Amino acid sequence: MNKPIGVFDSGVGGLTVVQEIRRLMPTESIIYVGDTARAPYGCKDAETLISHGREIIRFMLKKKVKAVVMACGTSSSTSYEQLCKEFPDLPIVDTIRPAAKAVIAAKPKECAFAATVATVKSGLFERLVKAGSQSNGSSEIKIHSRACPLFAPMVEAGLATKKNNPLLFFAAENYFADLRGKVDTLILGCTHYPLLTDALTHALGEIEFINPATATAKKINEIFPISSSEEKAKIKYFTSGDEKNFSKIAKFILKGECNPKKIIW
Ligand code: DGL
Repeated sequence: MNKPIGVFDSGVGGLTVVQEIRRLMPTESIIYVGDTARAPYGCKDAETLISHGREIIRFMLKKKVKAVVMACGTSSSTSYEQLCKEFPDLPIVDTIRPAAKAVIAAKPKECAFAATVATVKSGLFERLVKAGSQSNGSSEIKIHSRACPLFAPMVEAGLATKKNNPLLFFAAENYFADLRGKVDTLILGCTHYPLLTDALTHALGEIEFINPATATAKKINEIFPISSSEEKAKIKYFTSGDEKNFSKIAKFILKGECNPKKIIW
């Protein structure tokens, strides 16, 4: 059990999940994969995303991970079930299922769900919230789902490292201005979006954010309740793309150095 947890995303967004895992489970080691060479994931079809996920999980298994966290809403909503079938002995935790549970518990009357095109197209989040609310007899939660294809590439381009960036404000207004005053809660359905809360607040006003990273970290903590490691936790970062760009943005998110290695598949 003295093995790392694998965490992956299309790029730096999954680091927002790493932060939550570190907060809750500081002694667990992590292997992080940011598939930046093939980002963004949000415009890809399920078949392609399953194949990328499979390749990443095989890479992580060679690094002897004990579990995998899909720190990517897009993979979670398109590839989770298939990859669980393909790797039956590996615990896999996604972000969308824990997010749906968190929303059902929070019971907002009317909320917005921001995610990638592929996540919104899958309709998974809405289906899970509807089924969960019905089964526990809660009243229906009205969800306004919005695909935001510009957001993740903007974060990967480093635009979120600057506070109050007018380009992000403009994009957020474009996606959400009509919901201002209508919703009081926004679910950050893509792991890049917790880095955009200033732009989202600008567009929507003061609202509650639900960050699925919190519920995802809790879920992994349920599987490994006590730290199984006695050694000092280590995080190793890998990227399929440009190491310098990854490390520049990662440094901003993690508030510390990270020296990613290039993945050789
Ligand atoms: N961060 C990912 C997600 O949670 C992927 C974003 C993208 O690459 O389009 O959906």
